[in-house]
Amino acid sequence: MPTVGIIGTGLIGRAWANVFARGGWDVRLWDPDAAALANAPNLIAKALQDVARHGLATDPAAAAKRIGVATSLEDAVRDVAFVQENGPERVEAKLEIFARLDAAAPASAILASSSSAIVASRFTEKLKGRARCLIAHPVNPPHVVPIVELCGAPWTAPETVTRARAIYEEVGQVPIEVKQEIDGFILNRMQAVLLSEAMRLVGEGFVSAEDLDKTIRDGLGLRWAFMGPFETIELNAPQGTPDYCARYGETLYKLSSRPVTPDVWGKENVARAVESWGRAPSSADILKKQRWRDDRIAALVAHKRAQPKAE
Ligand SMILES: NC(=O)c1ccc[n+]([C@@H]2O[C@H](COP(=O)([O-])OP(=O)(O)OC[C@H]3O[C@@H](n4cnc5c(N)ncnc54)[C@H](O)[C@@H]3O)[C@@H](O)[C@H]2O)c1
Repeated sequence: MPTVGIIGTGLIGRAWANVFARGGWDVRLWDPDAAALANAPNLIAKALQDVARHGLATDPAAAAKRIGVATSLEDAVRDVAFVQENGPERVEAKLEIFARLDAAAPASAILASSSSAIVASRFTEKLKGRARCLIAHPVNPPHVVPIVELCGAPWTAPETVTRARAIYEEVGQVPIEVKQEIDGFILNRMQAVLLSEAMRLVGEGFVSAEDLDKTIRDGLGLRWAFMGPFETIELNAPQGTPDYCARYGETLYKLSSRPVTPDVWGKENVARAVESWGRAPSSADILKKQRWRDDRIAALVAHKRAQPKAE
């Protein structure tokens, strides 16, 4: 089986190790923090057991056995087919890590970064192997949320994106291609619009934070677990998308035409939204609820996989 080098074994690196190991790949981990590296295999093995309860890993013990630890970054990426980088979200860190990766990994290996917000052109331009570098931005945590946004720099070879797409699909993820570099890629741009409007509606007193959450959790979100906005509008008018746009386009334009201003995310508005939310969980409470969330998402993903395709 091919080997993937996982660079950085924090939250995201460990989740990627989980995805590749259960997908049948050999996994080699490296992190400069000795404790983070030493703890990673056990944490990943436990998370593999967790997802296996929902059928997202068929043999978690065998998957855990495929995971090994390297003594250096260079050792982690020798003879690999793929590298997933998950180091700190700072340009200087990505520059340093990618220079070392490009020097040490076989020329045939793809070098993918999990970066949330730093486009690849900011840290790969000077590399000899820049054509094999791209962003593969996951959503936390990728071992239960399958989407991964692929975005190359202007010099990334199309073949790099094609091969990366095939590899992520093979290990059970859902890759999409961002065709041009853009801040926030796609998912966070969509999320930004929704969150800004949520902050405004709650901060300006139109609705409580709890009731706003219900409109997503028990409203829009139920559809969105199975279809995106385009498929949603297609089903909301008898003649499909053009019909929907003719009926509702102008109204939707009016509803969204007030631009987001800095005060929406300013101190006063945030304080009002936080007061409306009215909760102050401890870090331990948050950790417990994150586990519950991941477990529920894994169950939903398993449910989705088991469904017949719509006609
Ligand atoms: N947490 C999220 O929600 C999320 C979602 C999508 C993408 N990402 C991206 O994934 C990457 C990792 O984020 P995270 O949440 O796992 O962070 P994290 O802080 O949990 O882990 C980062 C790890 O990188 C290690 N590290 C430090 N210097 C390094 C170096 N020079 N080389 C390699 N590793 C090094 C640290 O020891 C740490 O274990 C970031 O680029 C982040 O933007 C994060």
